[in-house]
Amino acid sequence: MNSPLLKLDCVTKRFRGLTAVDRVNMTVDEGQIVGIVGPNGSGKTTTFACVSGFLRPEEGRVIFQGKDITGLQPYQIARLGISRTFQIVQSFEELTVLDNVVLGALKPDEANHSISIAEARNRAAEIIDLVGLASDARKLSGSLGIPGRKRLEIARALATRPKLLLLDEVMAGLRPVEVDQAVEIIKKIRDRGVTIVVVEHLMRAVLALSEKLYVIHHGAVLAQGIDPREVLGRPEVVDAYFGKATLDA
Ligand SMILES: Nc1ncnc2c1ncn2[C@@H]1O[C@H](COP(=O)(O)OP(=O)(O)OP(=O)(O)O)[C@@H](O)[C@H]1O
Ligand SMILES: [Mg+2]
Repeated sequence: MNSPLLKLDCVTKRFRGLTAVDRVNMTVDEGQIVGIVGPNGSGKTTTFACVSGFLRPEEGRVIFQGKDITGLQPYQIARLGISRTFQIVQSFEELTVLDNVVLGALKPDEANHSISIAEARNRAAEIIDLVGLASDARKLSGSLGIPGRKRLEIARALATRPKLLLLDEVMAGLRPVEVDQAVEIIKKIRDRGVTIVVVEHLMRAVLALSEKLYVIHHGAVLAQGIDPREVLGRPEVVDAYFGKATLDA
């Protein structure tokens, strides 16, 4: 009865001779946190790009809220309620943290309604608080360290009021205590009704967050399941990617 919020149906993306995403099937239910892991170059970011419209898959369909969104432009998909972060952080360094988030909040929604600047500032302030950047709100974003930049990247994506948030390695470069804080922030975002897909290399975060996990290898889904520890322990997954030591970290 309940159809998934997001469904990838045999999604395939090729770059010349290379099949970067190979017939990927995936479902994400509303309110879930879904994890995606896989070795470098296995197609995780390309999969996000196919969902968010930055790349058009050669084959397969992306279905969001029951609607085929394959091949729509990024701005159209953003308006439908999908927001992504970028692996390379993309804030406006010469603007303050607050103004960066205000810009996200000013994006028009599905019905092409925009909000007032005052409303955008209120929403931005609330989001900045949620991600733990309140004391940095007036700093230039270029002055933030890595943890702050990652939080700002999440805040900017969140400001567009997404139904679905795609987080691409937002914890890379963080220390363990900062990873734990990021995990808490992501859970809080979910508790506010946002469905989340996280691409992440850090097993500590993957294990803490994933209510369903996909392992991608050479562009294809190698394994999936609802217990991340069990999935990561499967022999084919260990063979493809992980040593036991990584799992225990
Ligand atoms: N625009 C592009 N043009 C050509 N090849 C690309 C392009 N983008 C990605 N690729 C290739 O597609 C494959 C998948 O890349 P992708 O960035 O999706 O991997 P990833 O799983 O996100 O890796 P990482 O963990 O390092 O971020 C790689 O072999 C990559 O070199
Ligand atoms: Mg990537």
